Amino acid sequence: MKKILVTGSMGQIGSELVSHLRDRYGSSNVIASGRRKKNGSIADQGPFELLDVTDSEKTEAVVRNNKVNTIYHLASLLSATGEQDPQALWNINMNGLINVLEAARAHGCSVFFPSSIAVFGSQSPKDKTPQDTITRPSTIYGISKVSGELLCDYYHLKYGLDIRGLRYPGIISNVALPGGGTTDYAVLIFYDALKDGRHTCFLKEDTALDFIYMPDALEGAVKLMEADPAKLRHRNAFNITAMSITPKQLAAAIKEHKPDFTIDYEIDPVRQEIADSWPNSLDDSEARTQWGWDPQYDLKKMTTDMLEVLAARIN
Ligand code: SER
Repeated sequence: MKKILVTGSMGQIGSELVSHLRDRYGSSNVIASGRRKKNGSIADQGPFELLDVTDSEKTEAVVRNNKVNTIYHLASLLSATGEQDPQALWNINMNGLINVLEAARAHGCSVFFPSSIAVFGSQSPKDKTPQDTITRPSTIYGISKVSGELLCDYYHLKYGLDIRGLRYPGIISNVALPGGGTTDYAVLIFYDALKDGRHTCFLKEDTALDFIYMPDALEGAVKLMEADPAKLRHRNAFNITAMSITPKQLAAAIKEHKPDFTIDYEIDPVRQEIADSWPNSLDDSEARTQWGWDPQYDLKKMTTDMLEVLAARIN
């Protein structure tokens, strides 16, 4: 039976992954954890542990005490926050990861590690960026994700641990807000559209980046973790995408539902530079052929669902 620990469970992905995993494997088998506990969150709906993954002893103890055999390691700082404090990012993203890998090694756990489009940099091909290509990022976040991918593969090769990962693009969702990422505009735009009918975007209107909708992000993680290992030629980490879109295209999709919606632009130079160093679009064919990545939401379907779900929640 699976006993799953989710680190960083109060964040954008964790807030929804924990419920998704609890529906699938049973509430008592999924232990949410985080540095803080948010009242009224998934922390109140099942097992929860206060856990800062930079604390190696506590990380090992939480795994041991709960007889964990699978870890979804989500605790991480994102790209824009990382540029404000690179040392803090390195501490959380890298020391946190090795503590999780060491706990996994001590107790024979499988690990899911979310990597990112941030592993690519200006030397990578811009369009249909392949699975295997140059990964020389210019952000500390991207550097931590490339290093993390290599470290995860190393623990697989050296110690035989089952570690798998996805290169997530921007994730659009409606439960917890993302914090400190470059792709955050694509979430904030929906809240602003519903509350104020207007959004000021921090990226230029023609900045193309890959995105997926949260239900696909969750299903992708679980599907990869359940895939037949004999079919995986890669492990860390698979390119995945569902749509390559610009702020202008996203605004147009929202306008179809809300004709009075307007967008203007106040460019944040830090996040624009980061976005410009990332691919316009990814080639995710390896994920499709090796383990059946098959996203259900394109721009139109995601926009319709986001507006519907969020309108009900905000009202
Ligand atoms: N969403 C992340 C960010 O913008 C990318 O992985 O930092």
